[in-house]
Amino acid sequence: MENKIISSKTEKILVLDFGGQYNQLIARRVREQQVYAEIKPYSRITPEEIRTAGYKGIIFTGGPNSVYDESSPHYDPAILDLGIPILGICYGVQLMVYMAGGVVSSAENSSEYGKTIVQADKNVLFKDVPEKSVCWMSHTDFISTPPQGFSVIARTDKCPCAAICDESRKLYGVQFHPEVTHTEYGTAMLRNFLFDVCGVTGDWKMESFIDNAIEKYTNELAGKKVLLALSGGVDSSVAAVLLHKAIGQNLTCVFVDHGLLRKDEGDFVENTFRKQFGMNLIRVNAEDRFLGKLKGVTEPEKKRKIIGEEFIRVFEDEAKKLGKINVLVQGTIYPDVIESGKGDSAVIKSHHNVGGLPDVISFDEIVEPLRDLFKDEVRKVGEQLGIPHELVWRQPFPGPGLAVRIIGEITKEKLDVLREADAIFREEVANAGMEKITNQYFAVLTDLKSVGVMGDARTYGRTIVLRAVTTDDFMTAEWTRLPFEVLERSSSRITNEVGGITRVVYDITSKPPATVEWE
Ligand code: XMP
Repeated sequence: MENKIISSKTEKILVLDFGGQYNQLIARRVREQQVYAEIKPYSRITPEEIRTAGYKGIIFTGGPNSVYDESSPHYDPAILDLGIPILGICYGVQLMVYMAGGVVSSAENSSEYGKTIVQADKNVLFKDVPEKSVCWMSHTDFISTPPQGFSVIARTDKCPCAAICDESRKLYGVQFHPEVTHTEYGTAMLRNFLFDVCGVTGDWKMESFIDNAIEKYTNELAGKKVLLALSGGVDSSVAAVLLHKAIGQNLTCVFVDHGLLRKDEGDFVENTFRKQFGMNLIRVNAEDRFLGKLKGVTEPEKKRKIIGEEFIRVFEDEAKKLGKINVLVQGTIYPDVIESGKGDSAVIKSHHNVGGLPDVISFDEIVEPLRDLFKDEVRKVGEQLGIPHELVWRQPFPGPGLAVRIIGEITKEKLDVLREADAIFREEVANAGMEKITNQYFAVLTDLKSVGVMGDARTYGRTIVLRAVTTDDFMTAEWTRLPFEVLERSSSRITNEVGGITRVVYDITSKPPATVEWE
């Protein structure tokens, strides 16, 4: 079954990916203007396919250093004559120049990195942009001779062609990055390209996404038995509610409670989906099964593997009880889908997700209702579907749960200690209104014991670590500068209210070199 929910009438912009690091950001910026954008690697789509797909505009992303490198991505110049407006960004504009017969040069003293003042002419691309403004540059090569038919419309002290255009063919290009926030008027420039050059109206709205999805699945899944693994995370929750609206009780959600959840989390998930939404939910209390498998295991990767595999086994057992399943739903989102042509990266941790499920359960098809959406769009859909705010905006929680926040062997007793400490810390962060300042914050239970004193007696207890990070994408993260008062209150409450804790420390390591989770 074709998974696409985007209506064929929706206006679409193509982000043609030449390997730049900002390709996802460009697509998000376009979508923030309520214009639907799709990312495609340049090697996977031909000019003819672009033409027939009906894109209203194309954005060439940045990419490797020089268009004259043989290994650099090149493209069929026929794309320039499709009559579809194009905006080239950084490498993208250099490629446009190269394809159209202009000259790109390299000179050591012409490279620019970081914030640069750009002087712009009057041009549709710079409507509502002052003559001089700050833009973000990151280039070594520069355009020394624009192609025939192109004129220069912006420059910097070092760069004679900071922007060019051929208005008659609706081809535009900028050497800087309008998609990053450091470019003061970047949003205005993107809007000008979208609305004034491409002529879109901005019809990408979450309401229409929801309506289309419900209509599509109501028709296509009528009478089918549909199964979804609900974790209580944002993606699977939104997918569940969306499908429930379409097919009601034909959807069965299986929530595997592995006993490694935060305080009261299992009950919260059960109440929300069973009571509030009236969904057909099976909660599997599998704590004993998981703790049995984890007994004596201390090695982080081994813990992760055991939990991942056991999760599949439990889910499989439940699915078998339900008989023949026609459809499996997965909460895949757009960043998981985009093929970027990047090389294999080293495995730092084996992340747990439900990607392995299709191998073990027999069903006819997979449905991924969120595969066109970025995370912030998934959250918008969640809010519009009436999912509780605390669930839609909840911080990420790893699939293996608290198991990767307990150093050493996992026991029920340690889990209970960690749950209490973690709940106190989260409560204190929330009470101080710091939830928007930090993106993820939690407690870790180490296996380190140290000496303390309580009353007049010596104690010898465990050490809790508090961790809070600030990040956009969790690929890199900075430790959050939480106010000392929040740390102090958390420390004092944890040592007083949770048994066996002698010491509380705050983790001041960023990622890299550390990771967010301790295991
Ligand atoms: P690390 O520790 O790799 O974490 O810096 C980055 C982000 O990913 C989350 N995380 C996971 N999420 N399954 C998940 O769904 C996992 O196995 C997993 N491990 C880490 C982590 O909480 C952080 O947000």
